[in-house]
Amino acid sequence: MIHRRADRNARRASASPLFTPHGTDRAKRRATRRQVAEATAKAHAAATSRPATTAGREMPPPLYPATGRPGPASARGSKLKLPAHRMTTAVAAGAYPFLAEGGLGAEGIYIGRDVHAEASFTFDPFALYGRIEGFTNPNVLLAGVIGQGKSALAKSFALRSVAFGYRVYVPCDPKGEWTPVATALGGTTIALGPGLPGKLNPLDAAPRPASVSAADWAGEIRKRRLLLLGSLARTVLGRELKPMEHTALDVALDTVVTRASATSRTPLLGDVAATLNDPDALDSAAGVMSGRLGDAARDLAHALRRMVHGDLAGMFDAPSTHTFDPRAPMLSIDLSRLGGGSDDTALVLAMTCASAWMESALADPDGGRRWVVYDEAWRLMRHAGLLERMQAQWKLSRGLGIANLMVIHRLSDLLTAGDAGSRGRALAEGLLADCSTRIIYRQETDQLTAAAGLLGLTSVEMQAVSHLGRGRGLWKVAGRSFIVQHLLHPHEVTLFDTDARMH
Ligand SMILES: Nc1ncnc2c1ncn2[C@@H]1O[C@H](COP(=O)(O)OP(=O)(O)OP(=O)(O)O)[C@@H](O)[C@H]1O
Ligand SMILES: [Mg+2]
Repeated sequence: MIHRRADRNARRASASPLFTPHGTDRAKRRATRRQVAEATAKAHAAATSRPATTAGREMPPPLYPATGRPGPASARGSKLKLPAHRMTTAVAAGAYPFLAEGGLGAEGIYIGRDVHAEASFTFDPFALYGRIEGFTNPNVLLAGVIGQGKSALAKSFALRSVAFGYRVYVPCDPKGEWTPVATALGGTTIALGPGLPGKLNPLDAAPRPASVSAADWAGEIRKRRLLLLGSLARTVLGRELKPMEHTALDVALDTVVTRASATSRTPLLGDVAATLNDPDALDSAAGVMSGRLGDAARDLAHALRRMVHGDLAGMFDAPSTHTFDPRAPMLSIDLSRLGGGSDDTALVLAMTCASAWMESALADPDGGRRWVVYDEAWRLMRHAGLLERMQAQWKLSRGLGIANLMVIHRLSDLLTAGDAGSRGRALAEGLLADCSTRIIYRQETDQLTAAAGLLGLTSVEMQAVSHLGRGRGLWKVAGRSFIVQHLLHPHEVTLFDTDARMH
């Protein structure tokens, strides 16, 4: 039956060395086998008796005799007897998925070595877009346990892409490890923290791109601001907003914007918090819709107060001290001096405000190809409100020529956003679906099942993921699999070193 299938799929089937068609009788088949054995023995004898010179030139003796490598490891001592097993190459490719991979082509930045093909591995999400089936977006998810070289890979993406004219943006760098990279590339770093002069206003309106009309742009800015305010409030409150709270936020933002534009100022988070805290002003601004909006907004006012007072005081509630320079090759926002409190909500809120500021600056569709790197994004995963803002940004990014790179530890970080079927989980899964490229560095054994479930890994891939070393990852590019060893240039090793304090 296998022979018949092999006949049908003649191009795909593995070749059989001795094929005796059906219909020949047993004696004939035996005679054919004997002839083949005699011919093989004759050829063997001729090969071993031939002198070791060709055209007078001394040939080096063969490393191993024609019978193969000596010793028990050769499995040639006639002791290993396994039944012959034949399969089509299609089946073989399914059972051993890495054997038959042809590579992604030579376009893009050099990443390192494709371990199975022993070939160079290059990658450029923009070059692959539309070229391979199922590659629907340029976004990349990178997951792996601590210290496996995730940030090093992200930094190589950044460093090497600059040569292709891409710009690199790191909206939140909680460890401050991107600053040397930005400096080396001639880019800028904005450091935020208590006592530091740097301030960013996440409600800043980016200059209107030439290709967008004034009315559309005003609507776009309003949408972004509302999304940010809603996400911040939801994260501090730890719950969804009620309908009246949504209205209150709307009304407060519009009031603040009208007042600010009358004095040619940019609205601040503190202005929104103050308006929410003024029930009479809210009620009169809401007009017929009112219905005691002021009372309903009390929780909101307290939630936004956290952004204005306390640990984040001043950082995101003042006019920005930096203007965005679209010509700089790289920009990172260093949040390492924010200090780690017992709960990291403050850091997470800061990461969100910093991202919102940078993303609105990146809203120019003519800004060229850009990488936006969310290192340590796993911190944001626990907050459904922040995920929602992030996903909205990702949906926009394809039209803007932006490739997002999200770095997390475990794939189950995505599951912490909520229980199965919840809104948070749906958002996290949507974010995963929005990444055509998933790079999996080593995962803990207890995480493998979750990873396999989310990414549809085969058992061979699961086994591979649990044994990966530093810098080595399983790349799933639109369903195709590669094991790639990321190779660092000596200069990169020094520049990317995060182990310095451990040496
Ligand atoms: N491909 C590689 N070859 C050699 N060394 C590497 C490679 N990748 C990373 N390293 C080294 O490993 C160390 C840790 O790397 P890195 O900080 O990128 O890990 P990480 O996965 O981002 O860790 P964390 O989860 O703590 O952020 C660095 O000092 C880096 O120089
Ligand atoms: Mg890292």
